[in-house]
Amino acid sequence: MTGLVVAMDGPSGSGKSSASRGVARALGLRYLDTGAMYRAITWWMLERGVDLADPEAIAARALDPILTLGADPDAPTVAVDGVDAAGPIRTAEVTAAVSAVSAVPEVRRRLVAEQREIIGSGGIVVEGRDIGTVVAPDAVVKIYLTASADARALRRTAELTGTTVEAQRAAMARRDTLDSTRKADPLAKAADAVELDTTALNLEEVIAEILRVIKEKA
Ligand code: DC
Repeated sequence: MTGLVVAMDGPSGSGKSSASRGVARALGLRYLDTGAMYRAITWWMLERGVDLADPEAIAARALDPILTLGADPDAPTVAVDGVDAAGPIRTAEVTAAVSAVSAVPEVRRRLVAEQREIIGSGGIVVEGRDIGTVVAPDAVVKIYLTASADARALRRTAELTGTTVEAQRAAMARRDTLDSTRKADPLAKAADAVELDTTALNLEEVIAEILRVIKEKA
């Protein structure tokens, strides 16, 4: 398992984070949440008043924030310029703005390079939107998680406060459209990824199925 790279892609609410952490924990692998990196840069730009409606303004600052990621699946951490960002990157404000920032090629170029550096010689589960297609096209195991729009909205609503299933369904549909239609590295299923629909599965079942795929491929 030391050199293994497990690429986990899929839309928001498909269960990627819980499943990725569970698989990493079960196999003693590291864990990288690439969405947290895009969120951390978005938070940093919001804090500094960068105009997120202007891709050139985003590109001009793309290299400035310094990110530090901790890869323990039991306690993943993310800091920007040395400040813990774990809480702020999960706010509705960051969630609403992150697709605009992650569509900018200068941001992606920088983060893809950092992600490859963290992956290094492997032993890691990496979750995102473009891991199997762009970041780690040679990953031995690629999983593409999906779930029905209703199931995804229900899961997200249960995790958050002050929102409704309808509001979540609309917000997720908007983000999915932005993430899968952008020019730079859109959300996509790699041709050699195993697609897993998690709509009718609980977390333990999803993890068990992924472990089965890993055993078969690795
Ligand atoms: O997985 P998440 O919801 O935390 O990701 C937040 C956003 O970051 C998502 O809407 C799109 C972007 N993202 C991306 O463009 N590429 C990745 N590999 C991971 C996330």
